Amino acid sequence: MGLYRDAQEAAEKIKEAESATIISHIDADGIASEAVMRQAISREAIDVKSVFVRQLEPLTMKHVPEDDSLKIFIDLGAGQQNLLEERGLSENEVIIIDHHISQDTDTPYFQVNGLNYGYEKLSAAGIGYFVAKKIDDSNTDLAKIAVVGNVGDMMAREHCGLIGPAREIVEDGVMHGNIIVKENELNCYGISTRPLHFCLSYSDDPYIPGITNNAREAENLLRYDAGIDIKKRNGKWLVWEDLNPEEKRSIISRLALRLYNAGEPTDRLMAEHYIFPDEFRYSPLRNASEFATMLNACGRWIKPKTGSAVCCGDRGEAYRESEYMLRHHRKIIREMMEYIIDNGVTELSHLQYLHVEDKFPDTIVGIGAGMALSKLNWRLPIMILCYLRDENEEGKDYDDVVKVSMRTNERMVREGVDLQAALQIASEKVGGGGGGHKIAAGAYIPRSAEGEFAENVNRILREQSS
Ligand code: C5P
Ligand code: C5P
Repeated sequence: MGLYRDAQEAAEKIKEAESATIISHIDADGIASEAVMRQAISREAIDVKSVFVRQLEPLTMKHVPEDDSLKIFIDLGAGQQNLLEERGLSENEVIIIDHHISQDTDTPYFQVNGLNYGYEKLSAAGIGYFVAKKIDDSNTDLAKIAVVGNVGDMMAREHCGLIGPAREIVEDGVMHGNIIVKENELNCYGISTRPLHFCLSYSDDPYIPGITNNAREAENLLRYDAGIDIKKRNGKWLVWEDLNPEEKRSIISRLALRLYNAGEPTDRLMAEHYIFPDEFRYSPLRNASEFATMLNACGRWIKPKTGSAVCCGDRGEAYRESEYMLRHHRKIIREMMEYIIDNGVTELSHLQYLHVEDKFPDTIVGIGAGMALSKLNWRLPIMILCYLRDENEEGKDYDDVVKVSMRTNERMVREGVDLQAALQIASEKVGGGGGGHKIAAGAYIPRSAEGEFAENVNRILREQSS
């Protein structure tokens, strides 16, 4: 099959290299991708180093070293091939492993991209895993981290589980012994660490009438309806993973009844979860989705190498630091949600938006946008704008730049919404640039274009839905 053939070719090129540089993205999938590739390459005794960027664009290209190493661009690069060419990188120096839409150009770079073969539910870490497996058959221990990347990039969301090649990776992990598949579990985030009533009340897909955003009512359902004591004997709160199958069934049937009574479909109430038996109970590393949040917490707060070390097995200093990053991340996201709700969004016919100026960093506004959408009108895609902050000494370069993040949901995508196309068109028109996916996209635009931008995006979204 094409994807595996391309992965084989990439593996051969990598094995011939004397040294390699991995250039990856700071989100969960980017960090997982880097960790998979770095381990596979260093096991071949090839010298390898890594560079993380928040986005591959002219200003971050300077972080790509000018040396003889093979440059492996992963979770980015497909959409920025002209940039690589402008930098003077030759065909032999570059491999792109990506799952973003490829730029329509005739650059010569070799690329492994699931989209070339129609795999929309395979993230960069997943593609990187197939390359790693072609480097050496014994790299199946890395399936676990590849699954974290896939889940982190929401590849399991639409079908309530991973499908296609991403599901094959799960099977490899099961065979290896570091993944357990839990079928027909509650489709909810936080099954390993969150107190049960909070876990239920955070459910937004599906939106459960009376329970979503209502922890007290969730507690009532658990205690008085299902008869479950939500505190353990040692005074700790119960988590979903603590429940026995009968208790789980009892809760799920009560939630299903709520949906049924409200005339809502129940088909998304259950999902597949990926549990890691080699991680401690109650640890955020215990399942793929919570592990992915931890990676996002590290990467989006400019500590991607800490997340990567955790992926590679560090349960000492890097793990402690990532726990701190996770607490901080959650606190700021909570504040951002409150800010969005308190300040209110501006609603246009096909879009809702808010400018948070410099109150929240550009690296997290996308996550905040996605979470806020569950508390707002889900029919209107959400756009958050903010000023770009730079951490490096050349921060002034970014003074005139606005970062835009957009999120929508599967239902709107089915109705024709394509945020990637909308932001690409609207940002290029004002001299900026953007991209991403139908469901989640981002862009950079000049501050001077801010005024008209929302109207332009709204118009494109209107055209998409007609
Ligand atoms: O593709 P990329 O990794 O750069 O995506 C970054 C963000 O887009 C992540 O925060 C992820 O949650 C979101 N995303 C999404 N649904 C997808 C793909 C990405 O929500 N299908
Ligand atoms: O930054 P954010 O999480 O909102 O990014 C969502 C998606 O948009 C990601 O897939 C990211 O790679 C993409 N993006 C892009 N160009 C930008 C900003 C984000 O392609 N300038």
